[in-house]
Amino acid sequence: AAESLILAIESSCDETSVAIIEDGRNIRSNVVASQVKSHMRFGGVVPEVASRHHVEQITQVIDLALREANVSLADVDAVAVTEGPGLVGSLLVGITAAKTLAFAHNKPLIGVNHLAGHIYAGQFMAEMKFPLLALIASGGHTELVYMSDHLNFEVIGETQDDAVGEAYDKVGRILDLPYPAGKYMDQLAQEGEATYDIPRGMIHEENLNFSFSGMKSAVMNLVHNAKQRGDTIHKSNLAASFQEAAVEVLVKKTSDALKLYPDVQQFILAGGVAANSGLRQGLQAMLKADFPKLQLIIPDLKLCGDNAAMIGATAHQHYLRKDFASLALNARPGLML
Ligand code: KG4
Ligand code: ZN
Repeated sequence: AAESLILAIESSCDETSVAIIEDGRNIRSNVVASQVKSHMRFGGVVPEVASRHHVEQITQVIDLALREANVSLADVDAVAVTEGPGLVGSLLVGITAAKTLAFAHNKPLIGVNHLAGHIYAGQFMAEMKFPLLALIASGGHTELVYMSDHLNFEVIGETQDDAVGEAYDKVGRILDLPYPAGKYMDQLAQEGEATYDIPRGMIHEENLNFSFSGMKSAVMNLVHNAKQRGDTIHKSNLAASFQEAAVEVLVKKTSDALKLYPDVQQFILAGGVAANSGLRQGLQAMLKADFPKLQLIIPDLKLCGDNAAMIGATAHQHYLRKDFASLALNARPGLML
């Protein structure tokens, strides 16, 4: 028999997702209902719109996840949900649904940190080996995390301003790309050459922190000045230049972190920006050259973005520790690792 069968819910931002996860590593189902189309015309996530969509979708997504996994609520050992960080209205929809299921079916409730979830997406590729280093690169966060054991997180570096995905989205918006622009920027970057000069924020500072707002401003200024002069901007070259700068900084700080923590066994690249082709290649090349013994884990593309499977993977560890939440569980929009 399985150690655990967990129904997990994720609704921290603009995806409504429910998964059924066995033993933290086996995905029985992982349904993701994206709201991207609704937010596209606003060029970003509108919190009120997001929570309304979650309310409309959540029941159907729960039913679908159970049906796809061929599981009934009676079979489930626990109900897990993202408690933060995220948009308060969005989080509350998932939390309310989770509490209702847990109460009605008399199941333990588990609160999960969304950022832990991004790291635990790695569990679907290979079992975690400690100590490990993770780089979370998403729309809301950019941090280097050292883990000495399960659920034991030490943030050793983080962005001082914009998250890398946020900077990608803002730069993409300046270049008239659809929201969220990260993926389109990545495509353009692959067609272009890095001919523009973009600063590498904080690259020479002796710490593991990041800064992406200077790179974003540099692009804004280049576009603004070109417009004033009546010059045309070479979009793919500008995208390639931004990508080269962002990747160089992320790779350099990761390399610095690995030198500071030589006991690290495994490196996990997590979060939506883990889908970035330049970042994947850059990290792969650096690790192969400088840390050949280290195991690199990059989750499948569909597990890099927000999803409930990663919440279920994390919840399994809480389940093993009987680390359960009460029905007073509340949204924690600013929750940190
Ligand atoms: O982890 P995620 O789905 O949501 C958050 O928790 O933030 O990350 C979404 C972010 C967005 O900023 C999106 O533009 C970015 O990930 N992203 C990318 C790529 N694919 C998604 N950024 C750069 N290159 C990509 N290929
Ligand atoms: Zn996320």
